[in-house]
Amino acid sequence: MTAIDLSLRVEPGTPLLELENLRTHFKTERGLVRAVDGVTFTLNRGESLGIVGESGSGKTVLSRSIMGLLPSTAVNHGVVKFAGRDILGLSSKEMRHLWGAEMSMVFQNPLNSLNPLMKIGKQITEPLKLHLNMDKIDARDTALQLLRDVRIPEAERRLDQYPHELSGGMRQRVMIAIALACGPTLLFADEPTTALDVTVQAQILDLINEQRRNRNMSVILVTHDLGVVAGHTDQIAVMYGGKLVEYAPTKSLMRSIPRLEDPSHSRLATIPGRPPDLVNPPKGCNFAPRCLYAQPKCHVEEPSLTPAADPAHVYACWYPVGTPEFEKRDAELQETGYMPDDISAVS
Ligand SMILES: Nc1ncnc2c1ncn2[C@@H]1O[C@H](COP(=O)(O)OP(=O)(O)O)[C@@H](O)[C@H]1O
Ligand code: SF4
Ligand SMILES: [Mg+2]
Repeated sequence: MTAIDLSLRVEPGTPLLELENLRTHFKTERGLVRAVDGVTFTLNRGESLGIVGESGSGKTVLSRSIMGLLPSTAVNHGVVKFAGRDILGLSSKEMRHLWGAEMSMVFQNPLNSLNPLMKIGKQITEPLKLHLNMDKIDARDTALQLLRDVRIPEAERRLDQYPHELSGGMRQRVMIAIALACGPTLLFADEPTTALDVTVQAQILDLINEQRRNRNMSVILVTHDLGVVAGHTDQIAVMYGGKLVEYAPTKSLMRSIPRLEDPSHSRLATIPGRPPDLVNPPKGCNFAPRCLYAQPKCHVEEPSLTPAADPAHVYACWYPVGTPEFEKRDAELQETGYMPDDISAVS
């Protein structure tokens, strides 16, 4: 197959990223693990999307599926379009044209991703030479500018330092500089702040947003912590058991029902109980075994994504906050003193 030119910029009106019923399954001895099981969304150029969900809900596999960074045991179905082109069937060799220059990823732990034996400068200049054919001098100048862009003080001196000489926050900034080096149109940041203290977390998120605006880049921010994405992304998608169960503009989510931040009825990291078995998922709504509001129908029929008052806000739940069934059950729970913290007792 001849190399496909994927270096095109996005035509106006074409979304940068389109996912349609993406399913990523792993063949294992136990059976097929449905790590991502039917995810659909669209992301426009320059927009940011937060993907939130408890550990094991499929966030990393989803990002890696889009980037084509999966082991050979993974099987993908569905559609992933980048700048209007179908990329799901591309080989690693073809995907390599996209990595760095079109999409790149900031990983959770910079210590695992940075080479401990290589100076910072070299780690930034290598991709510039490789992907952009820069000579040594241009690459060094660009690396210096990148370090300044990510607000690393004394940038010149840092070029000759090793990763262990930098703080955790500074190392994460270096990772961002590397990810930005070749001017990607889409940046994935997978739990980029988990290892950092709260003040540094906020600085890193602000930095990613600043770079997004300056570069008209799209960002997918993956985290188990709703607090991290709230206020930092345009859209929020909630994943549970490999499925996208809620998708909303951040603004509408913060003022409308169902309330994502309500721990008793949301499918985020704080819910006690075990995540669903992805080899044998529960019938119906796969949150039902842990949901205090589950009704008989929830154990039988799977809810599909339905628009809320703001049609841009969709959610998959039969009895969201505000429905008579929810309010009745909520009153019962209040009466019996069954508070969400007790949910482990019933799951
Ligand atoms: N290579 C693999 N083989 C089999 N199962 C996997 C593999 N990678 C991830 N999984 C499973 O896929 C599910 C989703 O994992 P992941 O995307 O890493 O979750 P998250 O990033 O939301 O914490 C988990 O149940 C995980 O065990
Ligand atoms: S569909 Fe039923 S089980 Fe699922 S979240 Fe809604 S109320 Fe709970
Ligand atoms: Mg993950």
